[in-house]
Amino acid sequence: MQVISVRFEHHDEPLGIGEPSPRLSWRVAADEPGWLQTAYEVRGLDDAGAVAWTSGRVDGDESHLVPWPGPPLRSRRRQTVQVRAWGGAAEPTPWSGPHTVEAGLLAPGDWSAELVTPGVDEQPEGPVPAFRREFQIERPVRRARLYATAHGAYELWLNGARVGDHVLAPGWTSYHHRLRYQTYDVTAALRVGGNALGALVAEGWYRGRLGFDGGRRDIWGDRTGLLLQLEVEYEDGATEVVGTDGSWRCAPSATTSASIYDGETHDARRAPGGWAEPGFDDTTWAAVLPQPLDRTRLVAPDGPPVRRTDLVQPVAILTSPSGKTIVDFGQNLVGRLRIRPRGSAGTEVVLRHAEVLEDGELGIRPLRQAKAEDRYILRGTGEVEEWEPSFTFHGFRYAEVSGWPGQLRPEDLTAVVCHSDMRRTGWFSCSEPLLERLHDNVIWAMRGNFLDVPTDCPQRDERLGWTGDLQVFAPTASFLYDCAGVLTSWLRDVRAEHLASPTRTPPLVVPDVLGWEMPTAAWADVVTVAPWVLYERYGDLELLRRQYDSMVAWVDRVAEMAGPGLLWDRHFQLGDWLDPTAPPEAAADTRTDGALVATAYFARSARIVSTVAGLLGDQEAAKRYGGLADEVRAAFAREYVTPSGRVASDSQTGYALALRFDLLPDPEQRRRAGDRLTELVHARGYHIGTGFVGTPLIADALVEAGETQVAYRLLLERTCPSFLYPVTMGATTVWERWDSMLPDGRINPGEMTSFNHYALGAIADWLHRTVAGLAPDAPGYRRMTVRPLPGGGLTHARAVHETPYGTAAAGWSIMDGELIVSVTVPPNTTAMVELPDGSAPAEVRSGDHEFRIAYHPDRYPPARPPHTAWPGTADEPAP
Ligand code: BGC
Repeated sequence: MQVISVRFEHHDEPLGIGEPSPRLSWRVAADEPGWLQTAYEVRGLDDAGAVAWTSGRVDGDESHLVPWPGPPLRSRRRQTVQVRAWGGAAEPTPWSGPHTVEAGLLAPGDWSAELVTPGVDEQPEGPVPAFRREFQIERPVRRARLYATAHGAYELWLNGARVGDHVLAPGWTSYHHRLRYQTYDVTAALRVGGNALGALVAEGWYRGRLGFDGGRRDIWGDRTGLLLQLEVEYEDGATEVVGTDGSWRCAPSATTSASIYDGETHDARRAPGGWAEPGFDDTTWAAVLPQPLDRTRLVAPDGPPVRRTDLVQPVAILTSPSGKTIVDFGQNLVGRLRIRPRGSAGTEVVLRHAEVLEDGELGIRPLRQAKAEDRYILRGTGEVEEWEPSFTFHGFRYAEVSGWPGQLRPEDLTAVVCHSDMRRTGWFSCSEPLLERLHDNVIWAMRGNFLDVPTDCPQRDERLGWTGDLQVFAPTASFLYDCAGVLTSWLRDVRAEHLASPTRTPPLVVPDVLGWEMPTAAWADVVTVAPWVLYERYGDLELLRRQYDSMVAWVDRVAEMAGPGLLWDRHFQLGDWLDPTAPPEAAADTRTDGALVATAYFARSARIVSTVAGLLGDQEAAKRYGGLADEVRAAFAREYVTPSGRVASDSQTGYALALRFDLLPDPEQRRRAGDRLTELVHARGYHIGTGFVGTPLIADALVEAGETQVAYRLLLERTCPSFLYPVTMGATTVWERWDSMLPDGRINPGEMTSFNHYALGAIADWLHRTVAGLAPDAPGYRRMTVRPLPGGGLTHARAVHETPYGTAAAGWSIMDGELIVSVTVPPNTTAMVELPDGSAPAEVRSGDHEFRIAYHPDRYPPARPPHTAWPGTADEPAP
């Protein structure tokens, strides 16, 4: 028995955190089956390794997000802790290894540096300014930290070497409310004598153009700015601070333009050698201008930074019908190209990006007004020059390369995948390769769209934190990756923007670049649903506490809009956005009435608020919102449901909502609604009929109606529109609409034709919970339900999830007339196993378990022949 992987809040890298009393989580590696914790002890060590404090033995079974037992951390302070735990035996585990946390700058007054802006005119999308300053280090250094942020996106150098490996730092937050800073350990980069700090600051999200239809620039400010504070502690204990101030110098860099949507241009001939090293002559550089900055907005990160997480090599170099050179990476991905040309000075290499080809040429129409074009102008040293843009990213599988000096070879370029550097936590496998590829596509869609904020798409002139998209995808996201940190951060902004809205309307996108004040169901409901999903998956009650006022404010606002009739039917709604009947030019014109969707979500959000109020100890509010939810449900039933169970939008989504949001008061109505849903699915020939709202619900609704095999038929249908149709068309990510590419290979003529949108990938949650059978039952998977429902001719399926308590797995296979279900339960948790034969559920504790029952496939549709012809890369194997 051993306590392992002690974590602080949701941080994987606890350097420069913002919580003075970080909650602790640990796991126990147990060789003893059925292990449950009964008590724990946490102790803090001082710098010399001696015990400074201890919690003493604390009786308690919780090992996840346990309150910090030591004195609160002060700014810059490090604290090492060890944990041990007791199970049933009298002896505890040995002490865990030491785990160290370090606080960042916790108070606005900790900042002495000033925000500096370039002392020269800044052209929109013009040259990226470089900042520099030299300083002396007198004596040997014990430790040094660099605290950094920017108005814009920064890259840093110390003595010529890059500081950190972050991409597009400080990331994207609602800058009026919160501006993140990062903390870097730069001890090893300093030297006694002359030192130099250098920084590039591009417009990034802060000033750059954002939004469709031309978008807007300068949303948060019209000057780029840099804030750096280097804190040095000498070996003799003395300290020194070098911060940005009026003594810094500034000049245009060799990056002559940089835009998130349009791309980057770098003229290597202009790069001043050694500018970030000591001894560089910066007399021709301009002075900087210090600017006031509200330091109360400075916050430490809640989650991981964006990083380069993968490298992908070309699979083919093609010549298009018009004679263009097009590189195929075999995978639609998000990031940028790293190129290695060799040629004469002034040669210009142009890189254009697209997700698909149309008629053998780059399909750039879906990018709308995003140019997605990078340019590199060679220095011409005679050597190979390596370049990768710094302040942009693209969504692409194909790149058109022009101006390349000589013959382009596959080894001359690499696609660099960039996204929030989250820990992978979820895997799925099964006997149907097309389904596995669909799951891989969901993974890639998530990777492409968790680039600091959860976005709709990564390629066109949007890439925005669309609330509805995340609302429907949150259950899937939280299974596949540990996104607790990323979403904790984003939800702080959701709340801040929501509560600052004059009409108390959550924005459609966060950070809000639209400013629309447009109350929209399913999108705005992110304020209630996403915190609830995160609670269910990560067990973080504090997150609910923090978001609670926003949850309540939203439900109150809907109640006000709905009035005494409790039907919210007075606003434009996005409805079941992009169901397959929505015409190319009208994504909201769907089969399901937007007002019905709105009132259904009103009931759901009121119910969530009621439950959360109860958890937070406000019984009066729990009762009030519970009562409201009941009344809205009754109003929904009066308005939209016939006494015998027909729903007024006679659509797959209409029934899925009514069933899954528990809006049908009478069991007979529920039975009829389930039957009607099944009829509709049959009648459409097992083609999907749902959009963003119905897609996460329909398979569960069919199971609820007792029609698991119909759910499988729907899941396994291959002709358009269906979950597998894009896979048969060679998709390597999830598409925005069911037919982003039409069966004849042409791109859908609509405006909404991204090939990398995670929303419709929300079905993956059903693969995990129902096909494989691994579902959370108590917050954070403290208790799981394992209820696999085999079908669809599959012969095996398995899901693996790194829960907060350890690795959980559920899977099954069919062999020789037997169904073999295998279950892995992490230490300190339990699972309820329910087998499809209807036998009594069995509770099991930690360890590996196997169950065997006779398998009766009578009601199961025949297996389809496996489909093998699809391109793309395989997913990484589960641990
Ligand atoms: C986005 C969607 C979003 C929708 C809502 C689109 O442009 O890409 O994913 O939810 O707008 O209007």
